[in-house]
Amino acid sequence: MSRPPTYTPLPTSELDADEESSLFADEDQLEDHYTTNTTNKSRTLRASSRSKKHLAFVLLSLAVVMTALVRGAQHLVRGFRMRGCHTGLGGSRNQSTKFANGGGLTTHFTLPSGDKIPSVALGVWRAEKNLVGTAVKAALNVGYRHIDGAWIYGNEHEVGNALKANGIARDKVWLTSKLWNTFHAPEDVEPTLDESLARLGVEYLDLYLIHWPVAFYKDGKKYDRELTANPYPTWQKLEEMVEKGKVRNIGVSNFNIPRLKNLTANPLKVKPAVNQVELNFWNPQPELLKWSKENGILLEAYSPLGSAEQVKKTLAVPEIKEIAAAQGMTPAQVIISWHVQRGSVVLPKSVHCDRVKENFQVAALPQDAFDKLEKAATSHAPQRVVNPSKSWGLDFDVFDD
Ligand SMILES: NC(=O)c1ccc[n+]([C@@H]2O[C@H](COP(=O)([O-])OP(=O)(O)OC[C@H]3O[C@@H](n4cnc5c(N)ncnc54)[C@H](OP(=O)(O)O)[C@@H]3O)[C@@H](O)[C@H]2O)c1
Repeated sequence: MSRPPTYTPLPTSELDADEESSLFADEDQLEDHYTTNTTNKSRTLRASSRSKKHLAFVLLSLAVVMTALVRGAQHLVRGFRMRGCHTGLGGSRNQSTKFANGGGLTTHFTLPSGDKIPSVALGVWRAEKNLVGTAVKAALNVGYRHIDGAWIYGNEHEVGNALKANGIARDKVWLTSKLWNTFHAPEDVEPTLDESLARLGVEYLDLYLIHWPVAFYKDGKKYDRELTANPYPTWQKLEEMVEKGKVRNIGVSNFNIPRLKNLTANPLKVKPAVNQVELNFWNPQPELLKWSKENGILLEAYSPLGSAEQVKKTLAVPEIKEIAAAQGMTPAQVIISWHVQRGSVVLPKSVHCDRVKENFQVAALPQDAFDKLEKAATSHAPQRVVNPSKSWGLDFDVFDD
């Protein structure tokens, strides 16, 4: 299994600045070294020292120029990939027809509240601050009406700015956020929600989820056993947020069946509408999907392509490639369509305009192709991509029954 992804924001320009300053600091040190030593050296030694200094200076200059060239190239590639972000769905005529109106798949699922949640969303975990806004605008331009975010992703402000810049009416876009582990104490729920609302620049969320079934203490070192074992006090506060009109629907994320049974054994005013979990080719969780359907809880497929760590492997699965070739789709489109066809909302993340567009183009797979993919996904031992139990220092596995 690959390394569990971290929840700290990705390094960005701050790291770049440090790298740059370290280069220049070396140059200063080099200069000091020369000035203190020259008086005690012979002419020959001075000449040799000067040529060494010259060589070092040339090498450092080369390093600076190379760094600038690499950064420039990265910038160009990024710019190239994000170009064309403001066009519509486009593509060839056949493709447009195939994918029109959700390609025969449901475009929305209906929640117990009666609200209709769009079946394909743009996920924004690990979408860097300088790219996420463009990705959100591109998504809205090609037809997405659902953004899946969270307080911990650290980019709600940028997402909010992109929504504002696009000018989309609030009731035309579905916004999800999630309550981070540090804020499960009932008195922390509303202030944290208010922070997400302020950053997004909206007055309500369509969906608010308990991000993980683990309540951290504020020092981040230990977890609160009581509130982890019994999330009902946290849930009651979420119910209050529904009553206040700050959120329209509430749900959970990363809950297994026993944890859901434990929560719903309480006298709930509002039942969890959604459980957002890892679902992909490597971890398809057919039992959880079946149980959730039987119990009226909609699953949302996170890391649907296998996340950054497994996406390449996923897109190279022979069955997926074969279906893609036969259906005139890309492997990513086959997987994303399969998720909707299984009956779950799907949350692919990309910060690349062409992929954002590609991932929104879903179409129903013929039954034999669907069955073939379902069989391939469920015929190997399940393998999770996202499991932070160890990195959080928990003395249990968060997914154990
Ligand atoms: N509730 C939770 O605990 C939880 C946990 C994980 C994720 N999530 C949610 O689920 C969303 C999606 O999950 P994820 O980000 O882990 O993984 P994902 O959507 O399965 O995969 C994202 C990776 O695939 C790449 N990619 C996207 N579309 C592609 C395409 N068409 N062709 C090739 N590569 C493609 C992306 O790269 P580029 O961006 O460079 O294009 C990125 O590296 C998150 O953003 C978040 O909203 C929730």
